[in-house]
Amino acid sequence: TLAQKAGLKYFGSASDIVDVDALDGTYASILSDRREFGAVTPANGMKWFAIEPSPGVFNFSYGDVVADYAARNKQYLRCHTLVWHSQLPPWVENTNWTKQTLTAVIVRHITHTVTHYKNRCYAWDVVNEALNEDGTFRNSTFYNILGSSFLSLAFRTAHAADPRAKLYYNDYNLEKPSPKSHAVINKIVKPLLRAGVPIYGVGMQAHLKGYNRPSRGEMVDVMRAYGGLGVEVGVTELDVRILLPSTPEKMAEQSTAYADITSACVEVQACIGITVWDFWDPVSWVPGVFPGEGDATLYYANFTRHPAYEGVVGAL
Ligand code: XIL
Repeated sequence: TLAQKAGLKYFGSASDIVDVDALDGTYASILSDRREFGAVTPANGMKWFAIEPSPGVFNFSYGDVVADYAARNKQYLRCHTLVWHSQLPPWVENTNWTKQTLTAVIVRHITHTVTHYKNRCYAWDVVNEALNEDGTFRNSTFYNILGSSFLSLAFRTAHAADPRAKLYYNDYNLEKPSPKSHAVINKIVKPLLRAGVPIYGVGMQAHLKGYNRPSRGEMVDVMRAYGGLGVEVGVTELDVRILLPSTPEKMAEQSTAYADITSACVEVQACIGITVWDFWDPVSWVPGVFPGEGDATLYYANFTRHPAYEGVVGAL
């Protein structure tokens, strides 16, 4: 509610709902409360491994749980993600593709998936994490076979299947000026726009560290730089991890980080919304992937709120 009053389209959350009836009652009551969250993103359910586990065999049930949940609760749906080097089904990585066969497989995957969710996704993260930190393209099945042309292929194919979905390039460590943020501008957004490819937005994942975070000014600068190209900007996967154990000082730093990115987004016209990468510590991906770090979300295990919740409120 406050985010919308501040001019954003939504403040949302990712969730990995598999079985709605099994959701913790308190968790569900917060996630479905539109005063708290105006958008949801499936944390895993629309990834390639889930949707096309074997070649040409499509299963939308996992992604549908979150899509249906959003519809029922009248929340925006951010759809995530079509072409990503990670969480692929093994057959995509283990086949010896030619340019032609890989192109056909990408087109089939995107066309089936985007058509299934047509008119339901506010946005699609079409390509996820195609860049290295130094601004070069990441080696992946897609890049190795097709070069950077896999991006235009993916965006064009997605647009053909759902012309109204806003098509995003999404990546991490885009929250301050760096070789990677410059590559988003100069190697992805500008060339695609120049070639008439329908790219509509840049997703800044914003998996931040409370102890080493971009400044508010840096975040404003990059948001303006992306927006200056004529695309919108979303904060798509916000969380702020700390080195465990937690202390009041670390929670205060975390609160500042959440507040800074929120107020940066409010300040920059191009920034249209913020999504946290889940809102409850027990289901956050952080402890599993960054050993020794955690407490990255807005709610503790017992559903009391981190100071960062008030940080966000104060920034709106
Ligand atoms: C994460 C999920 O949250 C985890 O459950 C899963 O095990 C791994 O992926 N960048 C992304 C997201 O774009 O899709 C990732 O989500 C987190 C990093």
